[in-house]
Amino acid sequence: MSFLFNQKKDVAKKTGEKIDMSNIPQHIAIIMDGNGRWAKKRGLVRSLGHRAGMEAVKRVVKASSEIGVKYLTLYAFSTENWKRPVDEINSLMNLLIEYLGREIDELNRNNVKINFIGDISKIPDKCKSKIEEAEKITMNNSGLVLNIALNYGGKDEIVNAVKNICKSILEGKLNLSDIDENVVSNNLYTAGQPDPDLIIRPSGELRISNFMLWQSAYSELWFSDILWPDFDKENLIDAIADYQKRNRRFGGI
Ligand code: FPP
Repeated sequence: MSFLFNQKKDVAKKTGEKIDMSNIPQHIAIIMDGNGRWAKKRGLVRSLGHRAGMEAVKRVVKASSEIGVKYLTLYAFSTENWKRPVDEINSLMNLLIEYLGREIDELNRNNVKINFIGDISKIPDKCKSKIEEAEKITMNNSGLVLNIALNYGGKDEIVNAVKNICKSILEGKLNLSDIDENVVSNNLYTAGQPDPDLIIRPSGELRISNFMLWQSAYSELWFSDILWPDFDKENLIDAIADYQKRNRRFGGI
């Protein structure tokens, strides 16, 4: 069933009571944290925390699309997450395959464009083929852009951008004097996208953890004690309402 079109007006009315629908952050990025603690609190294995986290992903993608967010970036697996036990890594990769397999049709029907950011070359082949398939199926969609950050690290992304820029110079396609902030931005995984207006981190941790280091220069940050598997539309609306109270000066007065 299409989640977007039927109820769009009702949703706008209900959410509009809490948030200003004319000032929705264009790009929201989320550090999905707390799956392990959510599972531990219930005496469950960590993989079940991640599975519950996948349900939160579904809720938040649906809500973002309904609210009219243009870009949603979800931090699914960092360059540092390879340090986790191999079973946990495998269960995360399998969960992603399951998510794409089950959700792709509905995401596509709802005009969501799936885009992976990160070094996908290191991802296991069975997962990589699902990723490529999901990107291909949704490539012409014009609704919400869903960036899934996988094997993503902000430092790694900048190193990769530096390498690309150096290569262009060595090939004579770019001069040193041409390098400016736009050139760097255009060599990041998020090339062509606006920087996140709002970065959300649930679970009580107060850090950025190598997430969108360049792009977060002027992002508003919103932290909460909620564990990611409990995160829902109301929490997203609370974060947006808080964002709307901020006075964004971008270094001006
Ligand atoms: C951090 O919580 C979470 C992750 C490293 C994985 C996030 C993945 C999902 C939500 C699974 C589904 C994703 C998609 C895109 C379908 P943690 O395990 O570090 O929690 P803890 O700090 O409580 O241990």
